[in-house]
Amino acid sequence: MSDQPTTTVDRAALVAELEQVAARYPHRKSAIIPALRLAQGHYGWLSPEAFEDVAHALECTPAFAQSVASFYDMFHLTPAGRHLVEVCTNVSCALKGAGELLDELEDQLGIHAGETTDDGAITLRTVECLGACANAPCVSVNHRYREDFAIAQVRPLITELRASTAGWTDQEREV
Ligand code: FES
Repeated sequence: MSDQPTTTVDRAALVAELEQVAARYPHRKSAIIPALRLAQGHYGWLSPEAFEDVAHALECTPAFAQSVASFYDMFHLTPAGRHLVEVCTNVSCALKGAGELLDELEDQLGIHAGETTDDGAITLRTVECLGACANAPCVSVNHRYREDFAIAQVRPLITELRASTAGWTDQEREV
């Protein structure tokens, strides 16, 4: 498990982009969602520095930015890998084998849900209902659903994701 993938952040570029997005709104704080997305794109997750940059640009407090971010699953409050694999473990998916699927992903990745692989490639998480219950079990890969996901698809998925990150820089990520 990797706690903190190393990433070099171009803070000057982020500040300039935050300024552009904030200027589009009559109240700078209204740009909080796009600003958080921008910061996450640069940092790879919403670190304390990311919240400071957002707060400075939007003339709000880091606590306000953090409180908004904590409401949405799409924001990472801990370091995330280049790919995000989320397994729905809610009722319909659980009845169709989501637990076994999660076990298999954890075994093959060598991590537990909520962790990131040592190479920084993949973060594994569990999520509540994704709204695809009719085609359970559902796995979200970089926010795109893969429905009726079978255990036999775990190995090919990991191979696919690892192959896609070969040669990527620290800044490149899907999520
Ligand atoms: S319970 Fe998994 S998508 Fe609804």
